[in-house]
Amino acid sequence: NHPKGGDRRHVLLAGPRSFCAGVERAIEIVERTLESRGAPVYVRKQIVHNATVVEDLSQRGAVFVQELNEVPAGATVVFSAHGVSPAVRQEAARRGLDVIDGTCPLVARVHAKARRYAARADTIVLIGHAGHEEVEGTLGEAPESIVLVETADDVQRLSPADPGRISYLTQTTLAVDETTEVVDALRARFPLLHEPASEDICYATTNRQHALDAILDDADLVLVVGSPNSSNSVRLVELSRRQGTPAELIDRASDIRPEWLEGVRTIGLTAGASAPPELVTEVITVLRTLGPVTVEERELTRETVHFDLPPAVRGAEPRPA
Ligand code: F3S
Repeated sequence: NHPKGGDRRHVLLAGPRSFCAGVERAIEIVERTLESRGAPVYVRKQIVHNATVVEDLSQRGAVFVQELNEVPAGATVVFSAHGVSPAVRQEAARRGLDVIDGTCPLVARVHAKARRYAARADTIVLIGHAGHEEVEGTLGEAPESIVLVETADDVQRLSPADPGRISYLTQTTLAVDETTEVVDALRARFPLLHEPASEDICYATTNRQHALDAILDDADLVLVVGSPNSSNSVRLVELSRRQGTPAELIDRASDIRPEWLEGVRTIGLTAGASAPPELVTEVITVLRTLGPVTVEERELTRETVHFDLPPAVRGAEPRPA
């Protein structure tokens, strides 16, 4: 599957790509908890939606569970980056669990808005994907007040008690262009819609979409490194396909199918916010085994966002060997 004419294949790297500040923080929380408390450390749900990260932490003593009833009373449990509903926090307190919260501060900010809007008796339209853990956590903040919509069509089906008291929130990892469509539909149907002061789609999601957009026209194929349950990674694949560039989601380099590369000269390469940077390097290594490759990076913005660790793990130092 060498490119035609024995020419080099070109890899166009989108920047930023890969880990965001919320994912780095969540992984570091589990690592530090393992260091300070020792294994096992229970983690409710996947700490971030990436198979490699979960495998790696499992090997180091993290035990991933679906629900808190799988955690022994009194044990330490880390909440994942996607956040939890108040009901989960109450359950943890009731069972006397030692909780360390890995919720991304940008998800926590959406929860705080949900509480604020519910307190002023708004109907809250949450734009997001049904069943995603972040959506479940946010819904749980005000189940009586929040209604989930996924598409502009869903907006037409809303029947709020008071159309003059409506606000909206979004999942942090949506496609910017698709969300704009839904918000436009809300504005059209509810002229008194309360607009939030700030976007909920996070900087990392937005930056990765813009960076990919900037390389799409020059790529014959886009490879997105990320797991199938990673919302922001799936959005990158969809964005590419919507713009007419074939795209594939790969968990790791070994997922690349040789037939995808037939006749492909330029490969656009990016990774979702939960995918480790090493996996991107691995993709380039594997591509090099198929023929000569040149690599070019197009960095659209440089990210400097950093989130402090929670106090419970801030002082934890690695244990001496
Ligand atoms: Fe947080 Fe956005 Fe990453 S919400 S976990 S910074 S993708």
